[in-house]
Amino acid sequence: MQLCVGQVARADQFWARDTEINRIWDSVDSGGHILIAAPRRVGKTSVMYKMYDEPRNGYVVAFVDVESADNEHEFWHKLFNTLTSETFISQTHRYAAKLAASLRELAGKVKKVSTSGIEFGDGETLDYAAAFEKFVTELQIEKKLIIMVDEFAQAVENIIKYQSKEQAESFLRTARSLRQNPKILEKVTFIYAGSIGLESVVARIGATKSINDLNSIKIPPLVFEDAFVFTRALCKEIEVDNEAITYLLEKIEWLIPFYIQLVLQEAKAISKESLTNENIDCAITAALQHKNHFEHWKSKLKEAFEPTGYNFAKEILNVISDKHTIKSSSITNLISKHNLDHDIAKEIVHTLVYDGYINNSDDPNIYRFNSPILRMWWYNNVAN
Ligand SMILES: Nc1ncnc2c1ncn2[C@@H]1O[C@H](COP(=O)(O)OP(=O)(O)OP(=O)(O)O)[C@@H](O)[C@H]1O
Ligand SMILES: [Mg+2]
Repeated sequence: MQLCVGQVARADQFWARDTEINRIWDSVDSGGHILIAAPRRVGKTSVMYKMYDEPRNGYVVAFVDVESADNEHEFWHKLFNTLTSETFISQTHRYAAKLAASLRELAGKVKKVSTSGIEFGDGETLDYAAAFEKFVTELQIEKKLIIMVDEFAQAVENIIKYQSKEQAESFLRTARSLRQNPKILEKVTFIYAGSIGLESVVARIGATKSINDLNSIKIPPLVFEDAFVFTRALCKEIEVDNEAITYLLEKIEWLIPFYIQLVLQEAKAISKESLTNENIDCAITAALQHKNHFEHWKSKLKEAFEPTGYNFAKEILNVISDKHTIKSSSITNLISKHNLDHDIAKEIVHTLVYDGYINNSDDPNIYRFNSPILRMWWYNNVAN
């Protein structure tokens, strides 16, 4: 097992997540479109790539990352580009020759993805939805096509920001009606994921209905026993006793593979021979210096909320980073202090929970950080 810190974990870097992957495949088998729901850095993209690299029999998987799509046109451009790209077609050819040939033929027909729609070689220009329907209808297929769309919520948020809320609503409605279209449903399954919560983004523009057909599947953190074996596997060549692994995992607490990888990388930089409690403490301190691994926790909040909402969210996190917890009653005081509408404030707190910053799992009235490491980073770099 190879260390992998930050990139998508593939091949021998990927720690098995069979339960989640089987759950997703079973849901695909039963015909549902899926939303992979998990906070940032939990391992969504790695799970998607595992399914892409090793699809279940009967499926072909396309993967498209739409994070940089700032508007609807760029979204469709990326989607059509992926489906008609030589890389995807030649890869598909290896196990779905008929589909590959059909994709190649259709690729020749799609002349241009323009801002007003798709131009086909026969001179016809169709809007994106009609063009997608035509594309799929003409597709000769012996295996079902899964289209994985990573960072879908980010694209929606970009459309809200750079186009308009109305445009985003219409985009979401179109996406939903395509998913429900029987001609498409028969051949294509969509799997969405993203590092910001789609539910939160659509709730903010009152468009929750537009995703209520998606089957939401969660990727949880690792359970202690699994995290223990994972850590052992990453520590093959170094001397480490069970107590040290337990110490490490107790320190990390929120057992997502990422934090285990990050701390072990630093621990190995300190000593290649052994992992001691003292080294683990130093490794955590060193890990906190990697600004690029943490800064997004702050910047994404800034992008998501209006200034008042952002300041409210930041203050909640500042308080928890200092006091370790915050009570609902103190949050209510902060709502008044920031002069926020109660429903908007509740939605912001919900986003903080949904996006993996905080939880109130032990007591509904008390919130704490999921990750003590993030709590320390926040305390050092944002709150102070
Ligand atoms: N199955 C896994 N095996 C080993 N490491 C993993 C696994 N899943 C995640 N990781 C670790 O977590 C990091 C983030 O993984 P990944 O990019 O898949 O998460 P993500 O949920 O898509 O993140 P983001 O929300 O930022 O898009 C990886 O670089 C790796 O360190
Ligand atoms: Mg990802």
